[in-house]
Amino acid sequence: MHLAHFVSLLFIAVAAALDIVFKPTALLEVSFPQTCGPPIALHAGIHVEVNDTVRPPSFGVLGDVGPGPFVVAMVDPDAPTSQNPTLSELRHFLGGNFYNHRDHLVNATPAVSEFVQPAPPAGSDAHRYIFLLFKQLSAFAHQQLINASTSVLSFNISQFASAVELGDPLAGTFMYVAPDSV
Ligand SMILES: *[C@@H]1O[C@H](CO)[C@@H](O)[C@H](O)[C@H]1NC(C)=O
Ligand SMILES: *[C@@H]1O[C@H](CO)[C@@H](O)[C@H](O)[C@H]1NC(C)=O
Ligand SMILES: *[C@@H]1O[C@H](CO)[C@@H](O)[C@H](O)[C@H]1NC(C)=O
Repeated sequence: MHLAHFVSLLFIAVAAALDIVFKPTALLEVSFPQTCGPPIALHAGIHVEVNDTVRPPSFGVLGDVGPGPFVVAMVDPDAPTSQNPTLSELRHFLGGNFYNHRDHLVNATPAVSEFVQPAPPAGSDAHRYIFLLFKQLSAFAHQQLINASTSVLSFNISQFASAVELGDPLAGTFMYVAPDSV
């Protein structure tokens, strides 16, 4: 596939679903570790099996984004079903204090909202799971909007980003995960 195709897929998925200005200046790498075999590295629009998303992903960045800190978010705009996403966005991950160590994004602090595995319900079309990388400003460290006990449902990354001064994302990617067929 051509780069232009990735970028247009990504733009459509992110901009249309999240009401966010998406003009990436870097590449966000997301990789799901596997029990057997090599990790699955995402490219925009890849289809991943539910069972291959059990373990939390690791992140990397390619591009001139500086040392950090950064915030990473993962949201599902298709919850509970892509046909009727009344609970969207579902927040699958929200973490800050990521630093760029030779293109790997590492953090030593607990996530604001720990990784929740994709679980698209039977009957739904494939869900989009969108990952975004933001530059972290000090407002994020003091935010009280979201903590580990806040419901993951009906989250809004565009509102959250604006409330804690994250600005527009620097990079992003997404995957599709369909319900297991029975
Ligand atoms: C996913 O893993 C569960 C638990 O190990 C297993 O029951 C299920 O059959 C697996 N599904 C697929 C599609 O491999
Ligand atoms: C967590 O956030 C919720 C709002 O989502 C708030 O009601 C609650 O007091 C917060 N808990 C802590 C420990 O800060
Ligand atoms: C999120 O908030 C924006 C306004 O910032 C709004 O346009 C959008 O519809 C909201 N998304 C959802 C899923 O409610």
